[in-house]
Amino acid sequence: MPIFDTHAHYDSNGFNADRVDVLSALPAAGVELVVDPGCDVPSSRAAVDLAERYPHVYAAVGIHPEDCAGCADEDFDAIRALCGHEKVVAIGEIGLDYYWKENPPREFQERVFRRQIELALELDLPVIIHDREAHGDSLRVVLDYPGLRGVFHCFSGSPEMAQELLKRGWYLGFDGPITYKNAKRAPEVAAVTPLDRMVVETDAPYLTPVPYRGKRNDSRYLPYVLEKLAEWKDVTAEEMTRVTWENGKRLFGLE
Ligand code: NI
Repeated sequence: MPIFDTHAHYDSNGFNADRVDVLSALPAAGVELVVDPGCDVPSSRAAVDLAERYPHVYAAVGIHPEDCAGCADEDFDAIRALCGHEKVVAIGEIGLDYYWKENPPREFQERVFRRQIELALELDLPVIIHDREAHGDSLRVVLDYPGLRGVFHCFSGSPEMAQELLKRGWYLGFDGPITYKNAKRAPEVAAVTPLDRMVVETDAPYLTPVPYRGKRNDSRYLPYVLEKLAEWKDVTAEEMTRVTWENGKRLFGLE
């Protein structure tokens, strides 16, 4: 059963030494689909370049809240232009990040977030949402757009927030941290999430699962996330691999 990594940053500097080797090795390792989300205009372009080069790679394009300082009309125009590429399947990653003190002011992050949501609605694309320590505001913003669809990447909100999103059709992303001993909320979130709304992500090169925590992450470690999720949902790892593959394809219109 093939694996779909719905969120991996192979354009990142972390793969400069061996990007070709890692990406080329994925299909033989069972990873047959990857979505690489951009974080600013250059990385969105780089994600599209990778998607052009590798049949199993698709791109998302967008401006991440941590990288949105100074972003202006020309940046939104560049993102819009990239959306015309046939292998761009979503706008992302976009959202709110209140974790880092040096991030742009919250009001500015929200303006950038809303502008990209409006672009996604106009172009009928799903969004990939980054919400770090900004659960209340992220929920408030997305609820302003009833037609909006997509995934909350590495979902870290409460089970109650998950249910608000799930009843509106959102998908939730599960990543390496669900394998950590201190994962408390994730099993509660998994319990309220139906199988057909789960996707698995590496966020490579970050968020490496146990037992490789501390090393660089790549899509070949995704079986550890699939196994943990399967255990929580009381299904086989094969079944979890199959449903997350189907869900990812449905989410990104790859059927
Ligand atoms: Ni990411």
